[in-house]
Amino acid sequence: MSTTLRAGIIGAGSIAQEAHITAFRSVPDVELVALCDVNKERVTEIATERGIPQTYTDYKRMLKKADLDLVVVATPNALHARMTIDALKAGAHVLCEKPMALTYRDAMAMIDTSQKMLRSLTVGFCLRHSPDAIAAKQKCVSGDLGQVYYCKASLLRRSGIPGYGSWFTNKDMSGGGAMMDIGCHVTDLSLYLMGHPKPVAVSATTYANFGPKAIGLGTWGADHAEPPARCDVDDLATAFIRFEDGLVMTVEASWAGHGTDGMRIQIFGTEGGIELNPKLFGADAPLRWFTRRESELAEEPIDLPPSAGNIYDLQAQAWVSAIRSGAAPLVLPEQAAMVSQITEALYKSAESGKEVQIR
Ligand SMILES: NC(=O)c1ccc[n+]([C@@H]2O[C@H](COP(=O)([O-])OP(=O)(O)OC[C@H]3O[C@@H](n4cnc5c(N)ncnc54)[C@H](O)[C@@H]3O)[C@@H](O)[C@H]2O)c1
Repeated sequence: MSTTLRAGIIGAGSIAQEAHITAFRSVPDVELVALCDVNKERVTEIATERGIPQTYTDYKRMLKKADLDLVVVATPNALHARMTIDALKAGAHVLCEKPMALTYRDAMAMIDTSQKMLRSLTVGFCLRHSPDAIAAKQKCVSGDLGQVYYCKASLLRRSGIPGYGSWFTNKDMSGGGAMMDIGCHVTDLSLYLMGHPKPVAVSATTYANFGPKAIGLGTWGADHAEPPARCDVDDLATAFIRFEDGLVMTVEASWAGHGTDGMRIQIFGTEGGIELNPKLFGADAPLRWFTRRESELAEEPIDLPPSAGNIYDLQAQAWVSAIRSGAAPLVLPEQAAMVSQITEALYKSAESGKEVQIR
């Protein structure tokens, strides 16, 4: 591998513009050489504005011509698996945006290709790089919580349906709405904090009370349509997940709903519990510790490490540094695949009205 790594991004939409272009520029000895998008006008405009030398409208052509060491897949969810597999087969390491894939099977095929090609594969669960998540993880691995038996997690938006009428609200392209899009972030972070217990069953319900009426719309996303447009995904989902050894987690996600915006993860152990209200979502006391001391209730804030920077920059820097040193990425693809496995079971449960077993 040459000292300077050549990077390319597939998808020149919102997350590439807001995060990945700057993030990969922040990594020493990485050159962002190529950008690809099916929207020719968009890719030309963004590449010109941001000084990216090569543009493509066909990602396969980019993989063939641009001689890339690193590829970021930042396209609609349904395209993640195919594009990641093709990029790995072309010899690149891949950071695939979340959610990893629409199905567990596709996620495992991505892992299989990365192993065969001896290339690094990671997934954009960037929240793990925030100071509150780092401090929460340290507390969870300290053993202070005792036996963890319950986790309650939510990521709720009051009015934030992204890309109305675009791939976001088209089930074939997104695989789902709020739970697929943002529920996967809070599910991943909860699993990470709990040390990835093995899921065994999921029971879930989904609702679509806003999107189909074209209300509760947000501003995120490169493409938006005027109503009426296709919107056949959930705008609120809630689930009950059972893990081995009796551990249980509830997870809720909304794009729209009559309630407060925010993210929260509570983890309950036999000796203590933590409550994480990430700073990113505007909370004043991002991380708190609950326990009992000499039979008195005790509650205190947990100090956070100083912020080392923007989470997307940290994600890119940590991943490239892992590649250079031959280490595993912070977000192991098997861990991201577990989120896809749960999410797939969750939507099956919501559709059937029954608990779905995970084997
Ligand atoms: N990690 C995070 O915090 C985070 C935040 C937002 C979005 N995302 C993820 O990033 C991905 C992209 O989301 P976004 O918000 O940028 O969406 P977006 O709609 O703004 O951008 C997607 C882009 O992909 C392009 N595209 C579609 N098909 C393509 C193809 N075949 N080849 C090349 N380009 C193609 C579209 O033209 C568009 O420009 C999604 O998977 C989303 O879940 C992650």
